[in-house]
Amino acid sequence: MGLDTGSHVRQVKQSAEALSNYFVSRPKIAIQLGTGLGGIAEAIDTEFSIAYQDIPFFPQSTVESHQGRLIVGRIGGQPVVALSGRFHYYEGYSTRQVTFAVRVLQLLGIKTLIITNAAGGLNPHFQPGTIMVIRDHLNFLGENPLRGPNIDEWGPRFPDLSAAYHPLLIKGALDSARRCGLKQVVTGIYVCVPGPSLETPAETRWLRQCGADAVGMSSVPEVIVARHGNMQVLGLSVIANVNDPDNFQPISLEDVIATAARTGPELQKLVIDIISNNGPGC
Ligand code: HPA
Repeated sequence: MGLDTGSHVRQVKQSAEALSNYFVSRPKIAIQLGTGLGGIAEAIDTEFSIAYQDIPFFPQSTVESHQGRLIVGRIGGQPVVALSGRFHYYEGYSTRQVTFAVRVLQLLGIKTLIITNAAGGLNPHFQPGTIMVIRDHLNFLGENPLRGPNIDEWGPRFPDLSAAYHPLLIKGALDSARRCGLKQVVTGIYVCVPGPSLETPAETRWLRQCGADAVGMSSVPEVIVARHGNMQVLGLSVIANVNDPDNFQPISLEDVIATAARTGPELQKLVIDIISNNGPGC
């Protein structure tokens, strides 16, 4: 299991303690920025920013497309904290490490977590550049960040996931999309796989049959921990490529990053509107 529970709790608390001095505006909203979506950070009126390597016990990001900074500031006047750079299971981290930052945010009083990612489209109606508001997920990691002794002060042993993605946040995101004139915004189900190899055509066919609309290698552990910690969650996937099992095309990371970066401004617009119009509860 890696680190024992006592050490994990101590490290999360020390990390939160070290950051607490910088959370002067008491943000209630956090955003996690996905692959190629770091541009959203530019929408933040930054008050304070720190490299992950300078935060006690924070894991270090090993993926080049993730820069690894925590930013505190405002979007549309609302205090926010952004995690620019995330940790993936495929990098070799345990799911506890993957979700370390979310726990720290819980201890710092974050109530709403907006998670963004780049994903592969499974739904044939999607196109590269579609924004999917996550309605539900499938955890196909084969792992759960809550495995092991439950930390009762952080949440219940068996957290309910009947509405893991907050229905009012989903509705708010769709309202914002309409307000912003964004046409390619839909809802769907995200499946998390371990990676790092991409899916075969047979796996793609099977994931579609399982009911998934998009596939990726992140976010679900963070959502599970956020719900355990009683945060409300909004998930937004940028569909970077669409995988057709009957006409499968090679997927390149460069294309994934390029499409995510191209869709970044739309996602940025959406996120700004969601936060500005819905306030601290989002
Ligand atoms: N599969 C898994 N993860 C991804 C994909 C994909 O096709 N595209 C972007 N992230």
